[in-house]
Amino acid sequence: MEIIRILALSGSLREASYNSAAIEAMQVLAPDNIEIDICSIGNLPLFNPDREGERIPSLDKLVQALKNSDGLIIASPEYAHGVSGPMKNALDWLVSGVEFPYKLIMLINTSPRASHAQESLREILKTMSGIVVEKASVSIPLLSSELGVSGIVKNIEMSITLMAGLNEFCAEIERQKLNKRVN
Ligand SMILES: Cc1cc2nc3c(=O)[nH]c(=O)nc-3n(C[C@H](O)[C@H](O)[C@H](O)COP(=O)(O)O)c2cc1C
Repeated sequence: MEIIRILALSGSLREASYNSAAIEAMQVLAPDNIEIDICSIGNLPLFNPDREGERIPSLDKLVQALKNSDGLIIASPEYAHGVSGPMKNALDWLVSGVEFPYKLIMLINTSPRASHAQESLREILKTMSGIVVEKASVSIPLLSSELGVSGIVKNIEMSITLMAGLNEFCAEIERQKLNKRVN
């Protein structure tokens, strides 16, 4: 059984973050052949192009995790109609690297009313040559739900939505791997 390795990032630094809870719930729900590695972006310094090439442990860890992954899951909130600062900061650090281009990406939106940030995030990811897998990207209405990880896992509709997205995502990852093998 081939293992599929996925890196998951939350764009929220909040302790009780719905976005972090959603990716943690996916970690719990995922079958054994899908490893979801959650990497924190909260310790990254503010992006400064002058520091590119410097040894920054939190960045090295993120880059290594991205390099080892077959795909990337992003769950990120909207603040003032924009992408969260921590997520934009993390993406800016990854712009110049070789690890990001052509990476398959699944987006999770935990607040279906938050369309501006999702649209902007898609534009950023496209500009960075990432590939958003639309049929794998899902919305779950977590805002104001008071649900944490176990609440999401126990919520049948939400866990089905998350797992259906993950299945589509992994099918696309398998297709990409097969394409690389035959071409
Ligand atoms: C300062 C601030 C600005 C926000 N702006 C928006 C917004 O423009 N649109 C929106 O849909 N939600 C907005 N929200 C709501 C957050 O997106 C929401 O609380 C989300 O759950 C935060 O993500 P988290 O639960 O993962 O921390 C805002 C929240 C804060 C604290």
